[in-house]
Amino acid sequence: MLLICPHCKKQYNIDEKKIPPNVKMGRCKFCGQQFPLRAEQDAREAMVEPTQPVRRIGICISKGGVGKTTTSVNLAAGLACSGFKVLLVDTDTQGQDSFVLGVKPKGGLTELITEELAPDEAVVKARERLWLLAGGKSLAGLKRLIDRKDFGGELTLAEALKPIENQYDYVIVDTSPGWDPLTVNVLFYIKDILTPVSLEIMTLQGLVEFLKSLSAIQKHRKEVALKYILPTFYDQRVKKCNGILEKIEQLYGHLLCKPIRSNVRLSEAPASGQTIYEFAPGSPGAEDYRELVRKVANNDKLLR
Ligand SMILES: Nc1ncnc2c1ncn2[C@@H]1O[C@H](COP(=O)(O)OP(=O)(O)O)[C@@H](O)[C@H]1O
Ligand SMILES: [Mg+2]
Repeated sequence: MLLICPHCKKQYNIDEKKIPPNVKMGRCKFCGQQFPLRAEQDAREAMVEPTQPVRRIGICISKGGVGKTTTSVNLAAGLACSGFKVLLVDTDTQGQDSFVLGVKPKGGLTELITEELAPDEAVVKARERLWLLAGGKSLAGLKRLIDRKDFGGELTLAEALKPIENQYDYVIVDTSPGWDPLTVNVLFYIKDILTPVSLEIMTLQGLVEFLKSLSAIQKHRKEVALKYILPTFYDQRVKKCNGILEKIEQLYGHLLCKPIRSNVRLSEAPASGQTIYEFAPGSPGAEDYRELVRKVANNDKLLR
């Protein structure tokens, strides 16, 4: 019988008689995901609805230049390479995500919310299994629109994304530095927060401040929680880096991810419109982001 992995669409021709009657699930050798062992027709149906609910992850911290965009793009692209369908949402007026991915969409998040573009026009395909809802200058107008709403402004993003999110396994939301109506909207939409903490500049204070603001949101929305702390710009030769890392370990050890090293290839990749896996697949940056993908997907077999 023909089996199709609903995650990466890899096809397998399998002799049905060789599957023991009590075995209901198989693991895709290509993407490492589990899927039900059913014949082609059923598998095709399974492709329409993801087997797991969508995971909504925000890359957030009020500080700029700490690796939010680099992490958003390379986490999203790495998950897509692993076989997941991923929507990357850029909520920053700088609109860096489209630049980093080398795509030029005619609109994005603003146009989706104002309904100037239909969802399939606002969302652009950036790579295999990776779609982008771009940010950019037009988001400034969107912030004013949110501000002018008498009530429910904080749910604007969630209301726009809910109808389309089920087409994806992951929605990754890149955020702007600072704290504004869109940041609040992101925190009213996502469930898990991944916070990059630069070990180069002293951002632990930034983390503490962000957590204070977050607790104000959590009073109204309990589901949103800090799930991952990702040290970035790690240089083991620099004493200060190890000092900050130890401090994070003491305070938030259970949330700590393996650090992303300071790697010049990560800063060069955006100019070529490539992800780190395309630009320098053998670099320490690519290696570190693959590790992050495995951690987030909770699957040690991915991207090996
Ligand atoms: N681990 C790293 N090593 C070297 N340069 C990096 C690293 N992570 C990010 N960069 C570079 O640092 C700058 C800021 O990163 P960026 O992801 O844009 O931060 P943010 O989105 O938080 O403002 C960018 O030029 C980026 O290419
Ligand atoms: Mg950014």
